[in-house]
Amino acid sequence: MDERKDVLVLAIESSCDETAASVVRNGREVLSNIISSQIALHTLYGGVVPEIASRKHIEKINQVIETALSEAGVTLEEIDAVGVTYGPGLVGALLVGVAEAKAIAYAAKKPLIGVHHIEGHIAANYIEHKELEPPFFCLVVSGGHSHLVQVKDYGKFEIIGRTRDDAAGEAFDKVARAIGLGYPGGPKIDKVSKEGNPEAIAFPRARVGDSLYDFSFSGVKSAVLNYINGCRMKGEEWNQADIAASFQKAVTDVLVENAMRAVREYRAEKFAIAGGVAANSALRSAMKEACEKEGIDFYYPSPVYCTDNAAMIGAAAYYEYLNGTRHGWDLNAVPNLRLGER
Ligand code: KG4
Ligand code: ZN
Repeated sequence: MDERKDVLVLAIESSCDETAASVVRNGREVLSNIISSQIALHTLYGGVVPEIASRKHIEKINQVIETALSEAGVTLEEIDAVGVTYGPGLVGALLVGVAEAKAIAYAAKKPLIGVHHIEGHIAANYIEHKELEPPFFCLVVSGGHSHLVQVKDYGKFEIIGRTRDDAAGEAFDKVARAIGLGYPGGPKIDKVSKEGNPEAIAFPRARVGDSLYDFSFSGVKSAVLNYINGCRMKGEEWNQADIAASFQKAVTDVLVENAMRAVREYRAEKFAIAGGVAANSALRSAMKEACEKEGIDFYYPSPVYCTDNAAMIGAAAYYEYLNGTRHGWDLNAVPNLRLGER
């Protein structure tokens, strides 16, 4: 493999509210990583409005791709493959990226590689940890997903735990709204929690009866809402920072506990985290501490590679490229695409 020429992937991501493009060399070296975020736009509505997201992607995508190529200093002719997120996500948003990737790949006569969004999140770990190779375990926690994944090889996954209801990020966003922090909730709860006491309120740590590794976050979310309503009815003041810190602790405790249970059961030697919630400072430090205690290596991406970006899609597309994955011009957006499906 040492003798082979470099592989340059142009990657596109538009599954939710970021329009992103990136050029990645050999799956690990990011030559450019352009992200046009729609957060400010959706803040007005307190969450992502799918119709607005699709329209904004259409406005931005050409410019984002052009910038990604020019910042990387490469032309379309020099690109070896075009990678694009084709699911899961918002169908209208995904379609913009998929249609664009197909048009570019077709016109430039390059192979087209559809990438699973979660596979991208996991691959974000390869960018800054050049030594990381499968097998390892990965906790993927984002706005739409909470998965405990056994990464058996590049492109080969087994989901051993998943959320039964809300995703972790969704719970952060809903609780943030309830305590008056607004959208997007995760980063705001992270910040305000630093001023609060994580032991102030005992929110429930949900157990899912018949599974060792599944998660449930709707209970803790309801507990926060009940707590606030209780205070309101009694005419008592509530402390925003204490609620945020206690909620964050309840969520991270369960994530760490399930993760370490898997580590022990499967005798994992490496553990990684990924997805928007992996940017959470309390989760990062609690996971780091727990992995140190178990004597295993812990990996996490920089925050910019935790939340949605196209560099992670380029990293995943590279390994799919090596595995021989090629998609046809009939590639479609698959809003509920399952991990490991082709
Ligand atoms: O991975 P991502 O950008 O999009 C999805 O694939 O869903 O994740 C977005 C989610 C949002 O719910 C956001 O509130 C959460 O990640 N998030 C955080 C933090 N930064 C982003 N949650 C907790 N702490 C953070 N620092
Ligand atoms: Zn994501």
